[in-house]
Amino acid sequence: MHKKVTKAVFPVAGLGTRFLPATKSIPKEMLPIVDKPLIQYAVEEAIAAGIETLIFITGRTKGAIADHFDKSYELEKELEQRQKTEALDCLNKIVPASVSCVYLRQAEALGLGHAVLCAKPVIEDEPFAVVLPDDLVHNEGVGCLGQMTELFDETQSTILGVERVPPESTASYGIVKTASDSGRLNRIDQIVEKPQPKDASSNLGVVGRYILAPTIFGELQSTDKGAGGEIQLTDAIAGLMSREAVYAYEFHGTRYDCGTKLGFLTANVEYALRDAELKQGFRGFLSALDIHE
Ligand code: UTP
Repeated sequence: MHKKVTKAVFPVAGLGTRFLPATKSIPKEMLPIVDKPLIQYAVEEAIAAGIETLIFITGRTKGAIADHFDKSYELEKELEQRQKTEALDCLNKIVPASVSCVYLRQAEALGLGHAVLCAKPVIEDEPFAVVLPDDLVHNEGVGCLGQMTELFDETQSTILGVERVPPESTASYGIVKTASDSGRLNRIDQIVEKPQPKDASSNLGVVGRYILAPTIFGELQSTDKGAGGEIQLTDAIAGLMSREAVYAYEFHGTRYDCGTKLGFLTANVEYALRDAELKQGFRGFLSALDIHE
């Protein structure tokens, strides 16, 4: 039977240690790129891809995420009274009424694989998307997840978003080896979590966009702790590959790794330079900077 992807999982229960102390009481996913939190970019990309149910896997200190996607009566009333229609409009557009939000708690941050497994009771037996908000992907045209849901219509199989990463940084990614190298969509025949550059079979790194078959849950249930003592999604995908086709897709778009300070700062600069109101002033500021070593 032909299936469509209508649910997306946003694992947001991680500790965000690379951004401490900022993330002591604020979720990493609420850090803004210019004026919008990372999680909102991820949600907008998912909604544009046709997702109707947003499933957030949250944890302690992540309450701000649920608040962000909830109605804020007091603020809205206040803005109305002050006739701040533009600001009010921007709040009303955060989540369309036709989209549902579900919040599930991951009591302990046992790893990305474990976070995805927490979504099983809501996903049941459907294919679904996983979006990691700290991987921000900019596109002028169809978003990264939209490209992948379109492909899923044809393959009806698991698809991982991948990109070429610098060969010296393979130890930060799940690395895949594909059976062929023709075009952007290729079947994977090996996946390894965070290999050292000398052991890596390629430099095709998995980034935070996945369309997963529901059979992944069976794999996750029998996956032991892997790299970093965490239950790794990559290890479960490796198990899935021995039973069914898994594809890698080199998406169109520019990815920013906002889980690192450098990626986060780069994204802020580039998004500010794309912003109609900011770009002129900001470009002027940047070109006047006297940069010394
Ligand atoms: P990361 O490892 O990039 O995020 O996980 P982190 O653990 O929050 O950050 P650092 O490494 O300590 O700085 C990728 C995504 O998976 C989620 C994170 O919230 C992030 O969106 N995650 C990770 C979970 O939801 N649960 C986990 O147990 C681990």
